[in-house]
Amino acid sequence: MRKNIVAGNWKMNADAQAASTLIKNLKDADFAEKTEVIIAPSYTNLSLVNELLSGTSIHLSSQNMHQADKGAFTGEVSAEMLKSVGVSYVILGHSERRAIFNENAQLLKAKVDQALENELKPIFCVGEELKGRQEGKHFEIVETQLSESLFHLSADAIRNIVIAYEPVWAIGTGETASPEQAQDMHAHIRQFIADKYSTELADGISILYGGSVKPGNAKDIFAKADVDGGLIGGAALKAEDLTAIINSFE
Ligand code: PGA
Repeated sequence: MRKNIVAGNWKMNADAQAASTLIKNLKDADFAEKTEVIIAPSYTNLSLVNELLSGTSIHLSSQNMHQADKGAFTGEVSAEMLKSVGVSYVILGHSERRAIFNENAQLLKAKVDQALENELKPIFCVGEELKGRQEGKHFEIVETQLSESLFHLSADAIRNIVIAYEPVWAIGTGETASPEQAQDMHAHIRQFIADKYSTELADGISILYGGSVKPGNAKDIFAKADVDGGLIGGAALKAEDLTAIINSFE
């Protein structure tokens, strides 16, 4: 059966000192082993966090990656470099990358392929903006995001993807999708994958919810049948809050 996952996306927060403190506090915390925990620090802190996490069950993710093997791409980081510092997941398609850095479906498709070829597991983000939700086009928008960047994959390849549904209007806004809205979209995503691949495959894929998840709302969201955990931004910057979220599964 699919895994419950809580992934903390630190975004462009926490310098080396803050990263060490956060990891130390997380290691001291008491959380359920049955949930897979993933931390995504900035590139500069990956190596440090990898060392601090050694001997724990916490996995390391990067927040982005370049799609080429190597070469003249000043300022970029390759899959191989990430693997060499213990990274096993990579967040791709985050709405901030799509909106601020103009990452489109074609580019994301190339990044997904590059990640999988290098045995990095993509945490692939999808989600509609407020306008799309108000116009009732949210299912259609998410279907397009999934099919354009993931549906070229074989069944064996897509099994390695974690999907994160993050309605853009709920990210960093304090506004959360209701547990019912999350469940409706997650069930829709799972059915969409089942129609393209198989029910057996779709049932094995973890679909995370992201967007203002906090200790106070995580339990109700995670209780929904098709919600397999969360991608956490702001609340992942406090070990205490992240721990409470990790412990929010029934
Ligand atoms: P948030 O961010 O929890 O701060 O809303 C979630 C995300 O962007 O992954």
